[in-house]
Amino acid sequence: MRGENDQKCHWNSTYERSQDFFGKEPSELAVSALPTLKDHGVRTVLELGCGQGRDTWYFARNGMAVTALDYSETGVCQMRDAVERERLDDVVTVMVHDARAPLPFPDSAFDAVYSHMFFTMEFSEEEVSRMLGDCRRVLRPGGLNIYSVRNDHDPHYGKFEPRGKDMWKNPLGFVVHFFTEEKLRELSAGYEILWIKEFDEPSPAYTKKLYEVALRRPG
Ligand SMILES: C[S@@+](CC[C@H](N)C(=O)[O-])C[C@H]1O[C@@H](n2cnc3c(N)ncnc32)[C@H](O)[C@@H]1O
Repeated sequence: MRGENDQKCHWNSTYERSQDFFGKEPSELAVSALPTLKDHGVRTVLELGCGQGRDTWYFARNGMAVTALDYSETGVCQMRDAVERERLDDVVTVMVHDARAPLPFPDSAFDAVYSHMFFTMEFSEEEVSRMLGDCRRVLRPGGLNIYSVRNDHDPHYGKFEPRGKDMWKNPLGFVVHFFTEEKLRELSAGYEILWIKEFDEPSPAYTKKLYEVALRRPG
């Protein structure tokens, strides 16, 4: 669990400094995932690493009940204020939770699990595998797990300060874990893989390269 506290403190101070660090608009992943979620009749979504909620609001405004969690108390606090302000409390539940601990939900509780750039944080492969297994547990049979991670074609792959296997700490102080398609296939054990596809997320300084992964709990 190296870096557990420094990364969490770093997210807290980042969100204190900027009310919309990733912008106000939904991510590319959320926009691309919405039609898939609708086609599968998804009504309840668990979002991991929700940050300041840009995708949470998007899903909630598109008719889904979202349970959003993050270990950043600052992000969650800002989200709770927004839930109250926007009167979204009947469709959005926000929780502080470190996702390395078991998810505090019963089996088969959600139609979908969603996360953008969450599994690409400073987690070992073993931790990612365990968290993906716990996501499968809380999904109903046939439920979807859609997530994104930075990939090995990203301009920051292999750059900056090494922090363990396939992880580097960038100049902004964030540790990022990069994934090959092969590793993602290995990590999908117990799921049916619907697709793994590359997409770009432009940011002011450079364009991130990510994989979108869509998994289905069999049954
Ligand atoms: C790259 S940000 C993405 C935020 C959001 N998904 C978005 O795209 O706007 C990753 C988020 O994961 C959260 N996070 C990192 N490690 C976590 C953990 N162990 N448990 C819960 N959240 C975590 C961070 O606090 C941060 O908000």
